[in-house]
Amino acid sequence: MKLDQTLFGAAFRNPVLLAAGTCGFGEEVWEVMDLRTLGGIVTKSVTLEPRAGNPAPRVAEFRAGMINSVGLANPGARAVRRDKLPWIRDHLRSIQVFVSVAGHTPAEYLEIVRILDDADGFLGFELNLSCPNDTRRGSLPFALDPQALTQVVEGVRSLTSRPILVKLAPNAPDLSLPARAAEEAGADGLTLVNTLPGLVLDPRTRRPALGAGAGGVSGPALRAVGVHAVWRVRQATGLPLLGVGGIASGEDAVQYLLAGASLVQMGTASFWDPRSAERVRNELEHFGRREGVAHVSELVGGALLGSGGVAADPVPSSIPATASTGPDVHDG
Ligand code: SIN
Repeated sequence: MKLDQTLFGAAFRNPVLLAAGTCGFGEEVWEVMDLRTLGGIVTKSVTLEPRAGNPAPRVAEFRAGMINSVGLANPGARAVRRDKLPWIRDHLRSIQVFVSVAGHTPAEYLEIVRILDDADGFLGFELNLSCPNDTRRGSLPFALDPQALTQVVEGVRSLTSRPILVKLAPNAPDLSLPARAAEEAGADGLTLVNTLPGLVLDPRTRRPALGAGAGGVSGPALRAVGVHAVWRVRQATGLPLLGVGGIASGEDAVQYLLAGASLVQMGTASFWDPRSAERVRNELEHFGRREGVAHVSELVGGALLGSGGVAADPVPSSIPATASTGPDVHDG
């Protein structure tokens, strides 16, 4: 099965990317894996100012996956431009790189994009509007507030001609609403999904397993949630989708493709095995060969097509497109 795809005006040698927060800015994992075998990477989220991040422990495992509250630790936009993007330009020419951007206010997103936009070495931006570990001064994450989301995406759209991905949260009651809001505001693609807010307690200490308290759940526990999110949003927008959440095998990736994702991102599995993204790429190829699929694009949206297709989710008509939705997810 051929794995190459052209999306956002760029050639992806295969559909497997590393997700934001799982490979730093590439340099951090360079010794343990050959990133050039992948379709691309998304960098750690970049904030306007440097962030030290949340208190340790920042990551904890549990039976069905992992929980993290890293707190967007990163060197800040100016240092990323000065120190990280030149390395990416020199080493990752053959793959596609998205810079993940995070902020507390729409103005912060715009300022970060202003700082980075005319640097070399990357294809586009992934707007992280859904981090569950970063309080926006008591407000909902942008991804759960379609009006705030629109403000950020429209603002960034006015500043850059690069592709813009918007990363959405899994805990929106109806993901078609932020998805459509992002499309109308000028997004080029959607990444589904960020981690799911959760809490792991240590029964002996009676304290949270993470230094920050609650965090974001990822890994196998998130896979069915992510696949459903892609499937749901595939029915609501025509934008290219990137599926992420719990992918650890080629067949996990196929689920996301069948639900409607054109590309997939891997996260937690690469903490457990730094070469898992390369393995998933190979397993995807073998799957296609075994199943007689000539090109990966034949799988995209396959679960929604034809007589064997699955039924579409009903879209509730009672929630207005501009409504703020969902509970507050902050972990304090
Ligand atoms: C973090 O840095 O706490 C995780 C970022 C995210 O989930 O968006």
